[in-house]
Amino acid sequence: MKNKVLAILLAFVLLSVSNLFADEGMWLPMLISRFNIADMQKMGCKLTADQIYSVNQACIKDAIVALDHGGCSGSIISGKGLLITNHHCGYEAIAGQSTVDHDYLTDGYWAMRPEEELPIPGKTVSFLVRMEDVTSTVLSGVNETMKEEDRNKIIEHAIDSLTKEVEGNTQLEASVESMFAGNEYYLFVYQTYRDIRLVGAPASGIGKFGGETDNWMWPRHTGDFCILRVYSGADGNPSEYSKENIPYHGKYFLPISMAGVKEGDFSIIMGYPGSTDRYLTSYGIQEKINLTNPADILLKTAKMDIIKSFMDKSDALRISYASDYAYLANFQKKSIQETKALTRLKVFDDKKKQEDAFEAWARQNQDRADKYGTVISEFADIYKTKEEDKSDVAETYLQEMLMGAKVLLFAYKANELASVLEEKGDFSATVADYRQRAEEFYKDYNPEVDKQILEKMMELYKKNLPEQYYPETFKLVDRKFKGDFGKYADYLYKKSILASKEKFNSFLDHPRAKKLQKDPAFMASNSFLASYILVRVIQMGYEDRFNIARRKYIAGLKEMDPGMKYYPDANSTLRLTYGQVKPYEAADAVSFDYRTTYKGILEKDDPSNPEFTVPKKLENLLASKDFGDYAENGVLPVCFLTTHDITGGNSGSPVLNANGELIGLAFDGNSESMSSDIKYDENLQRTICVDIRYVLFVIDKFAGAGYLLNEMKLQK
Ligand code: ARG
Repeated sequence: MKNKVLAILLAFVLLSVSNLFADEGMWLPMLISRFNIADMQKMGCKLTADQIYSVNQACIKDAIVALDHGGCSGSIISGKGLLITNHHCGYEAIAGQSTVDHDYLTDGYWAMRPEEELPIPGKTVSFLVRMEDVTSTVLSGVNETMKEEDRNKIIEHAIDSLTKEVEGNTQLEASVESMFAGNEYYLFVYQTYRDIRLVGAPASGIGKFGGETDNWMWPRHTGDFCILRVYSGADGNPSEYSKENIPYHGKYFLPISMAGVKEGDFSIIMGYPGSTDRYLTSYGIQEKINLTNPADILLKTAKMDIIKSFMDKSDALRISYASDYAYLANFQKKSIQETKALTRLKVFDDKKKQEDAFEAWARQNQDRADKYGTVISEFADIYKTKEEDKSDVAETYLQEMLMGAKVLLFAYKANELASVLEEKGDFSATVADYRQRAEEFYKDYNPEVDKQILEKMMELYKKNLPEQYYPETFKLVDRKFKGDFGKYADYLYKKSILASKEKFNSFLDHPRAKKLQKDPAFMASNSFLASYILVRVIQMGYEDRFNIARRKYIAGLKEMDPGMKYYPDANSTLRLTYGQVKPYEAADAVSFDYRTTYKGILEKDDPSNPEFTVPKKLENLLASKDFGDYAENGVLPVCFLTTHDITGGNSGSPVLNANGELIGLAFDGNSESMSSDIKYDENLQRTICVDIRYVLFVIDKFAGAGYLLNEMKLQK
């Protein structure tokens, strides 16, 4: 009897736990019928699970896309392939189409007819055809006693056969992704389109209004959207760019709601979140706060200072480096705010408690002790080693360095050219390919900017890392330049055949392997790469142990709390999150409303500050309240907040109301909850969305591209 009471009590506790954080969770769409739909409907959702995800009927998932295989998300909003995503997701493409004379970044761009849509080289749009749990197939050959290396081989082999079987001779792409650190595996089948064109982008004074100052912040007044179009071959299948291609006509596109949003409204976001680390341990948090985030912030800030000083001097450089700068600024601020939020919200303490509870649970019987008894001490031990050998910090430095001075990355890619030249066969195709690549590469490269970045990165590297990670190049700098990185950088950019397009092209006229291999940029790049490999070898020394500990920890947590619904970490696969429109209290005495309006744009307007300069035409429309049909009670809405659980990669995701109609686009998170990749905070975590009515207002009234609305399905 007692046991029964206890069991009921326990079940009740677990049930309430599983429903406590209804808005937390990045759910796999195929599992919502099992895990979420009842909860969703209780919260106000009017849709069935099949209307959201189904392989048998047209459904919402057919309108949700991944851009560039998961860098951003988007959705289809017309029967002619019209795609809506964020301005910052199209930013690189918009910058790429811009020149000083046609500055679409500053002024925006709107195609007024199909011929004016601009092809975006390299852009891809992927649709999920279906997904499937393939855990039993992938793990059928493994057991708990085998070596990790053998386990990995079996898994790789199984994944390989699965994907080959699906892809066959079709145009489909298949991938199998690990979930819960290798405890489960899912197959994803995609169709990827490669003829994507820019239809319209608002001026940066709308699409990036508030700039880096407002980025990650609320209240927000950014019209962060742009419009693309997907084209297919005449048969409807993916095709490379061609004039003969036709607008994509898919199974489903999203209707748009003109009815607006209010506090408490149920809503859904579907998209491709990139990565989270919700099972990170307290040791991992310590490493982030004390070691890797500070390194990341230091290096990105140093690069930003250099790039900014050049961007301020020249319009051509401002356009060339706009996208690099926005990337750096975005993630530098994210790291700063993540450290702050982790500290403020005491996430370390929460994780520690969870780990203590796990250890106590594991001690309760021999079976568990055998399986899970050493998991936490393994983490402690591995992170202690990492702290001592500084390998993770070194990795951060090497990545920032190799992604900093562009010439190093281009030199690294020239390794392939060097080996082809060495073979002394016919290298004409490879050379032609490199001429093409050079066209792309040197477009946004400036040797002065690059040189200063290289010098600064090397300086910081030497100052802050142990000698064992110094690349060979440092010896050369000591020997020939008395340790002066500035003089070395001068020499490199003067002498290297990779330091300018002209020099590289004349090298390609008479290419020789030796010349490339002796090139200072080529040698520097390879010496950094050697250091990177060294770091990786050190890390691999405990990678297996780490992976086993993680896999066991997550499996153990699930076993410990079987009533709880678990969702896997984000990994650039399609997810659904549901929640509601909701304000928040940011701090003591700081309460934020859930929406912003046009008034805030006029309040923030500051013609002396490029980040806050409102385009004249917009200012006039707003000042005269010329809102068309897009206002609510005479007020034009701009942005709103929801409780959804999203992260980077979700940018551009559609926000849907209870009927599955588009009400906005997700484009940011709030700084106060920036610990969210590690832990969702119920009170603080908000998704920042642009209201679809503001988007339509901009397209129609500001850009004069109202003809696009005729393709859409607007719902009153
Ligand atoms: N923080 C947003 C994201 O990571 C927007 C980034 C782009 N905007 C910017 N001002 N850099 O998705």
